[in-house]
Amino acid sequence: MKHLLKLSDLSGEEIVDILNLADQLKYEQKNGIEHKRLAGKTLGMIFQKSSTRTRVSFETGMYQLGGYALFLSANDLQIGRGEPVQDTARVLSRYLDGIMIRTFAQKEVEDLAAFGSIPVINGLTDYCHPCQVLADLMTIREHRGSLAGLKLCFIGDGNNMANSLIVGGIKTGMIVSVATPEDYSPDAELCAWAERSGAFRLTRSPLEAAEDADVIFTDVWASMGQEEESKKRRAVFEGVYQVNDSLLAAAKPDCMVQHCLPAHRGEEITEKVFETHAKEIFDEAENRLHAQKAVMVRLMGGE
Ligand code: CP
Ligand code: NVA
Repeated sequence: MKHLLKLSDLSGEEIVDILNLADQLKYEQKNGIEHKRLAGKTLGMIFQKSSTRTRVSFETGMYQLGGYALFLSANDLQIGRGEPVQDTARVLSRYLDGIMIRTFAQKEVEDLAAFGSIPVINGLTDYCHPCQVLADLMTIREHRGSLAGLKLCFIGDGNNMANSLIVGGIKTGMIVSVATPEDYSPDAELCAWAERSGAFRLTRSPLEAAEDADVIFTDVWASMGQEEESKKRRAVFEGVYQVNDSLLAAAKPDCMVQHCLPAHRGEEITEKVFETHAKEIFDEAENRLHAQKAVMVRLMGGE
């Protein structure tokens, strides 16, 4: 593994290896065991979109690993004034040991990796959110012991989270069912790949998708960059694509609920379901730290 651009670049074994290392690093951190595996290393973090979790978990993670992280707002970089990503990649490769980037186009992340000579980590694009889903898989495994054979359900917009959950779920042996409105399906090529696994179902019916689920995910109806579509999207999703008590009644009695956050209570998830499952949801948020530390150690640690 040279980069983390999207989960489909990783094998199931590589994903499990990251989850195992993440568990170990979490254990070391919780028990005060020194694990400065990236001492002297520097990570640049480019943000074209807002962030709470991604920024703080990468920065803190790098610190805990003995390295240093630089927050680089795209507004303040020359990239924000049109300097090509090809040049930015080559310049940053001369200073840094790794780059984390959150942006709009997946191609920008791929170009950064292609033109630079250091590892690139995708911290969210419009297409996918691999770091989040590694943390999600870690959380499910922590709560359930294993992943294979569990049913993972996603309700809502077929967005970056849906795309990465489909790949992460299928690659770790889960059964994945997704319910989205007609014009809001996940990436078509990715769905075709998932269908070939025989463990994937795309439906328009949240109740059908949630049937016997072990874990239900949802995410906002309008993602970053889609703010002007919010009203139109609300009209399509409202009242149907929501994780609420009646949806959970279709799932297994001990079904987990996950949300990458930020959550819009009363929209994609009810306040009651959110608060009932808050422990699992904030475990998930915490695991961003541990999963990303594992990714950085694998990519930048020479191990
Ligand atoms: N889940 C997630 O990526 O959160 P942030 O947007 O706060 O980084
Ligand atoms: N789908 C959301 C995820 C935020 C972490 C977005 O892209 O805004």
